[in-house]
Amino acid sequence: MRGFLIPKGTIIVPNLRSVPLDPEHWESPKEFNPKHFLDQDGHFVAREAYLAFGAGARVCLGEQLARMEFFIFLVSLLRAFHFQLPPGVNEELNEEPVVGVSTPPHPYKVCAVPRCSSS
Ligand code: HEM
Repeated sequence: MRGFLIPKGTIIVPNLRSVPLDPEHWESPKEFNPKHFLDQDGHFVAREAYLAFGAGARVCLGEQLARMEFFIFLVSLLRAFHFQLPPGVNEELNEEPVVGVSTPPHPYKVCAVPRCSSS
């Protein structure tokens, strides 16, 4: 491949993180930008370059389960709580990831305030 001989049995770990950072595919790859997934009328658009679950023959087998879980967890939390900074805290959110085997966000404090319910 590209002049390199890859011996049989070599373990290859693709760098999937390079894909969401590719400026050829995303207008603002380093920013949180929901418009990457919306058309001019605000409707959702699936993007081929969105590879969170991998691609091809070894694509994640749990993708559908994970998508359902995310939807149920997120919607349940958003229906039950408002999320806001703790009183007196006025921090800029650090959007840089903590780089390691995975890339989680930096720790930060948030208050989950129960929404008032009429029922
Ligand atoms: C946010 C949740 C998840 C993400 C982002 C994710 C992502 C991935 C990625 C990137 C791969 C590697 C694809 C490749 O080798 O090209 C993978 C493989 C895999 N995932 Fe997930 N995954 C998630 C949740 C799950 C869940 C919930 C299950 C099972 C219940 C699961 C089961 C698997 C399995 C079995 C493979 C190996 C597939 C194979 O090599 O043939 N994943 N996943």
